[in-house]
Amino acid sequence: MADGPGPGAREMAGIATALIVAAGSGQRLGAAVPKALVPVGGRPMYEWSLSAFQKADSIGRIVIAVPPGGAGDFAADGTELVDGGDARSKSVAAGLGRVETDFVVVHDAARPLVTPELIDLGVEALVRDPDVDAVIAAAPVTDTIKRVGPDEIVAETLDRNELRAVQTPQAFRTDALRRAIASGDLAGATDDAFLIESAGGRVAVLPSPPTNIKITIPSDIELAELLLGSLAGTPTSLDKD
Ligand code: CTP
Ligand code: MG
Repeated sequence: MADGPGPGAREMAGIATALIVAAGSGQRLGAAVPKALVPVGGRPMYEWSLSAFQKADSIGRIVIAVPPGGAGDFAADGTELVDGGDARSKSVAAGLGRVETDFVVVHDAARPLVTPELIDLGVEALVRDPDVDAVIAAAPVTDTIKRVGPDEIVAETLDRNELRAVQTPQAFRTDALRRAIASGDLAGATDDAFLIESAGGRVAVLPSPPTNIKITIPSDIELAELLLGSLAGTPTSLDKD
């Protein structure tokens, strides 16, 4: 990414729209309610992400893609709720219809450990570098990763230094994301940066802490609660603010 002085705080204020995708059912979690509504540390999971975006200087409006017909279950004053789709990228496409800014930050409601700092850093890096279409949060990989064949026999050991575990938030130039979504295979995309890559765009990674976990299976909830408590320093930090 380009070096040099970044945009000032004033130019950054409210420059991007947040798009929190919360429309998934959470099949692997197996709860009775959609995953975004499952309690984590005493509040519905999506509220942690919502709070972080409300505190981020670079964010103006906030759009949340919710399970179709489920808007009434979300208490999200000051945000815009839109029905999501049956694949993650379709939920992103639905939310993008409400975005009017040049920059948009897409985030999984399933990542409650996101911080305002990480959100602002991504937007700032994107605004600063006109040559990239997206800046995505990604953590270094600490496990050794091997590619295996269908027979569970190792085919290759990958160079860990070249690997990143990709997370959200992901900041995009809105027009680039719109174009990528219009031409991409939405059903097969697990993140939107993939659609940008497939369309020939440039995606930069922003180093992100491994603590920014995604809640996928039940044990992730316990882990997230431990992290939310220890990162904020005191157990009372789990209270609603
Ligand atoms: N998501 C969405 N619309 C979908 C599918 C997923 O908005 N049709 C959102 C989820 O709500 C979540 C994020 O995308 O915040 C990441 O998806 P994932 O962790 O896979 O959540 P689910 O699809 O709900 O879980 P599962 O795959 O276990 O069903
Ligand atoms: Mg899913």
